[in-house]
Amino acid sequence: MDAALRSLLDWYASMGVDVPKVPPVRVSRPKRRALPDTRTTSSTPSKPAINTALPTRVAPALSKIRTLDTLKEAMISYDAGALSDTARQPVFARGNPEAKLMVIGEAPGREEDIQGKPFIGPAGQLLDRMLGAIALGEDDFYATNVINWRLPKNRNPTPDDLSICRPFLEKHIELAQPKALLLVGGISMTALTGMTGIMKNHGQWQDVTIAGTTYPAMSLYHPAFLLRRPELKKDAWRDLLSLREKLLSL
Ligand code: URA
Repeated sequence: MDAALRSLLDWYASMGVDVPKVPPVRVSRPKRRALPDTRTTSSTPSKPAINTALPTRVAPALSKIRTLDTLKEAMISYDAGALSDTARQPVFARGNPEAKLMVIGEAPGREEDIQGKPFIGPAGQLLDRMLGAIALGEDDFYATNVINWRLPKNRNPTPDDLSICRPFLEKHIELAQPKALLLVGGISMTALTGMTGIMKNHGQWQDVTIAGTTYPAMSLYHPAFLLRRPELKKDAWRDLLSLREKLLSL
């Protein structure tokens, strides 16, 4: 038995599921045509698209951005003040930008800060196993966070941190155009739905409107929380089945 299958079966077993009969489900969308790139072709290095930490002044610059690559470049050159001073780099995304499902986590940790990709530390590995249990591989989702820079000592984000990152998150969702959002953890749920209390609101589907488009969004217990509270994995499993149903219907 290969390691991936063993890890999947371990995950089922830990949730009290006897027979893992989950047929593969194709949830990737057909390729979209690339949006036109707004970057200049000048041979001299262009100035950073955005150079202020004030979210209200970021919005006009972001409104000119038409591709995920350009958004990523803008974030790399962005001075987010204390946020970008203490982090190695912005953590942008991983997975398939064409996927139906956009996963939105909380904030990068140490591993993510080093590699510049979200959800690759221990919590990310559990998240991969959780999604794998409903037959979603890395090609079937696109992951980012509500906070794009690692916070010192992994502290919780402040309202200021969230509002600095918010315009980037909205633009990111607008460009990726997913069919559904998975909000991983209470901070992401509150940031995008305004609801508080992941214990009572996980697994519920809510409409989230970003830039004029409404997305169905479900909140899921954060895998780091499940690592501390494994008895809640059964609830997470129910939520994952609801996610699978939703994706099949979209
Ligand atoms: N890593 C991330 O990228 N996001 C989280 O929410 C947790 C770990």
